[in-house]
Amino acid sequence: MCGVIGYIGTGVTPEFFYNGLKRLEYRGYDSAGIAMLEANKIYIERAEGKLTNLQKKLSNLPKSAHLGIGHTRWATHGKPTEQNAHPHRSDNIILLHNGIIENYKELKEFLLTKNYVFQSETDTEVAAHLLNYELKKLNNSNSVEDNMKKAIFSLVKQIRGAFAFGIICTDEPDTLYVVKYGSPIVLGIGENENYMASGIAALVDHTREIIILEDNEIAFLKKDSIKIVNFSGNEITREPITVNWSSNMLDKNGYDHFMLKEIHEQPQAVAQTINGRIDRNQGTVDLKAYGIHKINLKQIDRIQIIACGTSFYVSCLAKYYFEEFTRIPVEVDLASEYRYRSSTVNENTLCIAVSQSGETIDTLQAIKFAKENKAKTLAIVNAPGSSIAHVCDDESLIYAGPEIGVASTKALSAQLSSLLLLALGMAQEKNKKDKNYIANCLEDLSKVPSLIEKTLALSKPIKEITLKYQHMDNLLFIGRGQQWPVALEGALKLKELSYIHAEGYAAGELKHGPIALIDENMSVVCLAPKDQYYEKTISNIEEIRARGGKILSIGTEGDTSLQAISDDFIPVTKCSHIALPFLTTVPMHLFAYWIAVRRGNDVDQPRNLAKSVTVE
Ligand code: M6R
Repeated sequence: MCGVIGYIGTGVTPEFFYNGLKRLEYRGYDSAGIAMLEANKIYIERAEGKLTNLQKKLSNLPKSAHLGIGHTRWATHGKPTEQNAHPHRSDNIILLHNGIIENYKELKEFLLTKNYVFQSETDTEVAAHLLNYELKKLNNSNSVEDNMKKAIFSLVKQIRGAFAFGIICTDEPDTLYVVKYGSPIVLGIGENENYMASGIAALVDHTREIIILEDNEIAFLKKDSIKIVNFSGNEITREPITVNWSSNMLDKNGYDHFMLKEIHEQPQAVAQTINGRIDRNQGTVDLKAYGIHKINLKQIDRIQIIACGTSFYVSCLAKYYFEEFTRIPVEVDLASEYRYRSSTVNENTLCIAVSQSGETIDTLQAIKFAKENKAKTLAIVNAPGSSIAHVCDDESLIYAGPEIGVASTKALSAQLSSLLLLALGMAQEKNKKDKNYIANCLEDLSKVPSLIEKTLALSKPIKEITLKYQHMDNLLFIGRGQQWPVALEGALKLKELSYIHAEGYAAGELKHGPIALIDENMSVVCLAPKDQYYEKTISNIEEIRARGGKILSIGTEGDTSLQAISDDFIPVTKCSHIALPFLTTVPMHLFAYWIAVRRGNDVDQPRNLAKSVTVE
């Protein structure tokens, strides 16, 4: 979950590392550190808390160095203190780590018997000392580089878990060593300089030529070359990919927070995701352009969608569309549970992994399990070359652009539009819906970007409404049909951003228990647009009112009867059932956003969270 960056070349300033870490801060933000090697002297600065604390120490680092590494941490082992911040040192070894070393205790016990002294409570320091120990065992007449290679091979054989390491050996100042197993790492190619980072975002100011390092690989970076070998020692040749992210995609561009910017980027996120994938003349989905190359959709008789968090709620939403369009049974699973429930799949099952980052470990492990059990696997991800995409038979990118805010917003809309395209594409392949129906749905989907654009105007009135709700301790969110996952998403966003306790429920489920919570102190956010469930949802709202509960409703523009029974009313434009969940999600995000702002919370980096969750 941490952010790492590394450089080798003709020279960079401490700000290079700091700015790169800033781009990765969404991955972890409880402490940070930088190591720079110049004139054979190593300088290390670390600080507890956000990166700004490290910024104050940059002047202690050399003005320029030709080799260095930086880290921003999301604590797993040991508190978020300066002592536990990376990089960690063992004599001539300086090492930083993204991941978890599961057998660190037994390794630590062994190293203590060898008189290693531990300065931190981290699992990472074990790796630094173990590498040092392995290095010391080797013959001094070999070159340091050869010995480092051998020592790294020994290290990776002994550790279990997930790790991406950036390593400097002060005796070998011309090489930056990078090791990957289970945690993401990309390499960047520059002119007379090369880079490594845990995400492309850290490198786009310097290069667009990226090599994705794969599991079980070690890279040896010199200023003018990159050599990759696998853990068996075989040399690997890999072509770089060119990424088209620009620096300004990674800036706030005048918005106060990335989250607000990203909410406003939803129209483009949807437009870019569907563009080029709809044959407008034929009114069909172009499944090749969508990314279906190896999977034969005609053969699929069951679908499983696997995801976490917001990606899970999008998948729950998509289930309604898949079942409606294709009449194929669909299960949606939380990835963290899927792996452990002996799911039965076969070669006719399509397992779809939905993940913005493409790196969520639970989703990755779950889709690997599905693949091992012969299911066809499809990745729907935002990050090109991500681990989840790498594992799956086919990969379909969403084009949301980089999402920096920890709370997922524009990725949700892009994921939903992608899943809708797939559901319609499957209906088309399996002849489950007539041509006109599919063409009309695609037409409805094409209108989504402009409808979201219009809905964004709600930001101001929602900001006003939140004045009343900002001090609440509890809130319920309810909806029926497609609005149920929207309610779940609304509750998740409120929890993660405002730290207010919130629960989402299917409106019809209220009477089976949660209605006991309703009294004059409870407010309920009711998703009640004019859809096929409208009348039943209204009855549920009445039941809440009868018990004194307060109603904040999200309904169809002009619905005066809903407005009349609500304490507050947020109207969305009347639209097709394809577009509707896109529109009702916007107020969910804005509501959570404005409440968090009013409460003075850190919207882009809420407490205890990280953007991409690469630990179990
Ligand atoms: O990168 P992913 O889509 O796999 O991430 C899944 C969840 O961790 C993510 O959606 C998380 O729940 C967000 N913080 C929600 O806003």
